[in-house]
Amino acid sequence: MPNLAPRQAQFIQLHREDHAAVRAELIAGLLAPAATTSPKYLYDALGSRLFEAITELPEYYPTRTEAALFLEHASAMAALLPTGATLVDLGAGNCEKAARLFETVQPRRYVAVDISVDFLRGALQRLQRQYPALDMLGLGLDFSAQLALPPEVGDGPRILFYPGSSIGNFTPTEALKFLTQARAACQGGGLLIGVDLIKPATILEPAYDDALGVTAAFNKNLLRYINRLIGSDFAMTDWAHQAFFNAQHSRIEMHLQAVRDVTVRWPGGQRIFVQGERIHTENSYKYQEADFHALLRQAGFQNTHAWKDAQGWFAVFWAQGD
Ligand code: AVJ
Repeated sequence: MPNLAPRQAQFIQLHREDHAAVRAELIAGLLAPAATTSPKYLYDALGSRLFEAITELPEYYPTRTEAALFLEHASAMAALLPTGATLVDLGAGNCEKAARLFETVQPRRYVAVDISVDFLRGALQRLQRQYPALDMLGLGLDFSAQLALPPEVGDGPRILFYPGSSIGNFTPTEALKFLTQARAACQGGGLLIGVDLIKPATILEPAYDDALGVTAAFNKNLLRYINRLIGSDFAMTDWAHQAFFNAQHSRIEMHLQAVRDVTVRWPGGQRIFVQGERIHTENSYKYQEADFHALLRQAGFQNTHAWKDAQGWFAVFWAQGD
């Protein structure tokens, strides 16, 4: 009897949210002399939707520039990348970007990785119905601190896919560590990664401080998320969005600045912010193409290739892992 049951995507949740640890980390950041919060707190349900809105803003060039590169250079990428590999999508979300790559790389298996399988379930099940022959796995994993893929990902070469210039949230030191782990994890395949390039501040800054105020809302929404996580009483109206290019560190910095003296209270603690004091909420590092090639080689990749748009604003790198 042939098995006519449609193939089902598999799901494995490996990351466990530790509420006490989240709380301790957030409070330590808020109490530091220069207050900071991790950019991961920008992405509750509303934050994720605001980020999607950002990608449609005229000022935010990365998403559409990268998408155009994948279209324009599809056949060149197909010539360099292995076929029949396992496509590992790091930070898959709605799985849209990877699905557009299926034609190009003809994967044997698709592994969607995100912090929670709950973010992946709907999208992956839909994709599985669209590509019934492709083996699919959803993996709930936090790879931001350490990229270690479990044996369930399977044997054979892997194409690690890390689009969107998410690598920009790492410091260059953290980025090198991540790339080194990617080199070890790709099993002779490679890494396909989107990287935002250095360009004039007159282009960079509006991308992170748009006229409509969507990025400001995205940044301030982090305070609502923190209020839920630690029971604090941040008021949105006490804070102003700030984004600027720090040329010395080659990064966009996002901050929230107190518009007046503010006392923020939470069960067991408080922090006084004087007017003008800031919370540093995100870094988004920008690279020179040559420097990113060098970083990839330092991580152990020997053959690297980059595709750039005509303006040189964004690059997609392929780094071969053997
Ligand atoms: C998702 C980290 C790539 O740095 O451009 C967009 C996040 N922050 N606007 C970026 C972001 C403000 C984005 N990454």
